[in-house]
Amino acid sequence: MSSTTSTADAGLIGLAVMGQNLVLNLADNGYSIAVYNRTTATTEEFVARATDDQDVRGTETIEEFVAALSRPRKIILLVKAGEVVDKVIDQLLPHLEADDIVIDGGNSLFTDTQRRFEALAEQGIRYIGSGVSGGEEGARNGPSIMPGGSADAWPEVRDMLQAISAKAGPNDDEPCCDWIGPGGSGHYVKMIHNGIEYGDMQVLAEAYLALSALGNSPAEMATIFDGWNQGRLRSYLVEITAEIMAATDDDGTPMIDVILDAAGQKGTGKWTVISAMQLGQPMMLVAEAVGARMVSSFVDVRKRAAELLLGPESVGLGDLSVADVADAVYAAKLISYAQGFMVLADASAENEWGLDLASIARMWRGGCIIRAAFLDDIAEAYGRDANLVNLLFDPFFVDAVNASIPGLRKTVLAAAGAGIPVPAYASALTFFDGFRTARGSANLIQAQRDYFGAHTYERLDKPRGEWFHTDWAGTGGAATSGSYSA
Ligand code: 6PG
Repeated sequence: MSSTTSTADAGLIGLAVMGQNLVLNLADNGYSIAVYNRTTATTEEFVARATDDQDVRGTETIEEFVAALSRPRKIILLVKAGEVVDKVIDQLLPHLEADDIVIDGGNSLFTDTQRRFEALAEQGIRYIGSGVSGGEEGARNGPSIMPGGSADAWPEVRDMLQAISAKAGPNDDEPCCDWIGPGGSGHYVKMIHNGIEYGDMQVLAEAYLALSALGNSPAEMATIFDGWNQGRLRSYLVEITAEIMAATDDDGTPMIDVILDAAGQKGTGKWTVISAMQLGQPMMLVAEAVGARMVSSFVDVRKRAAELLLGPESVGLGDLSVADVADAVYAAKLISYAQGFMVLADASAENEWGLDLASIARMWRGGCIIRAAFLDDIAEAYGRDANLVNLLFDPFFVDAVNASIPGLRKTVLAAAGAGIPVPAYASALTFFDGFRTARGSANLIQAQRDYFGAHTYERLDKPRGEWFHTDWAGTGGAATSGSYSA
């Protein structure tokens, strides 16, 4: 790691905002970096802005770029997820040699990363798919980095990635970057991070609706969110929400009041929900968050619906308090993270990734968008018991969720009565109540399935795994359709 070597320590392709900031972060940490961008003018402008003590070397062609790197080459890609990654890899491949290391730092779909990892391994190229979270500011000053793929490449890039990552822990010296696991696991963990990010944002957006309905102005909400940021809800997203509430447009109107309520999305939340469903895991709060963004985007249809469809006569929230809404935020977040970690545990078992859930929680304590005080508690819970069946079973979280659920329940009831949509809160509460119900209503589902399709059922008075069929209407026979479950 020195700027005196004739070849650069590492290279980066893709000088959009994340790429530029990551290069400057690397350079500030003493690494010499060769850069390449499809548009050469961008490279020239960027290199011209580097200071004398930042060793950033512009290159104009892929050949020149590869030749500028010390061996084994370490190449970071920060290009648009999808086909562009494949195209860049295709351009690079003829110039690479065995043992070179390619690190995809974009938001790639984990199955794409798995495919690229396997294809490049056949050519002796080591591939790392790494989630990088923290946006523009994180990339510049320390993101959370979640690398997975070729394990034997990790010792060769560890120092560099940990140097540029955020630091957390009691002394702010624990890197928010550690090895995640094989294949596409790094990008999988980043995808779940993003799904949880969607959930956290929706939970705060619902608090905004409820607090507004309680009569708080944006300036007053800035104070409320700021207060929340001093306690158990302390997190980057609450902090920026307070700042957003305080921001005003040129004419003094609160910024929040001039922004169209139609949310965009680039797909990682949707991927999270699809993956959870494929695993048979109900990551329902995130599903609601993705759905709420979809509903928000139907701007004109919603205007028409607002004219036609009735809400309740009374729009009052009764005696709902700000403290109840804070409890709702906290309880909903706990349930969302419990769901997220259920998916991580299941994906790890299914793919034999050996994910270390405590380590993942530690990596999310700093640098990333979901960074929060609360992740210390999650890291501690998995530190106490790496095989914790569910986050909500940890003694700390049992107490925390039981104490905050009444506020969530009150908020959902009040919002439902007033016709205020709180899909994430309602979903969290419904999950909680279903999860803590020892005997639910699926006996009826089983009876219905058996009635119309002879799908069979298990009996309370017989061991699990013994399947029974009833000829409910007296019209069927003894034949059954099998008891497998997908
Ligand atoms: C991060 C973010 C980032 C994501 C944006 C936008 O961890 O830094 O998750 O990777 O791309 O938040 O995502 P959406 O456009 O899907 O909201």
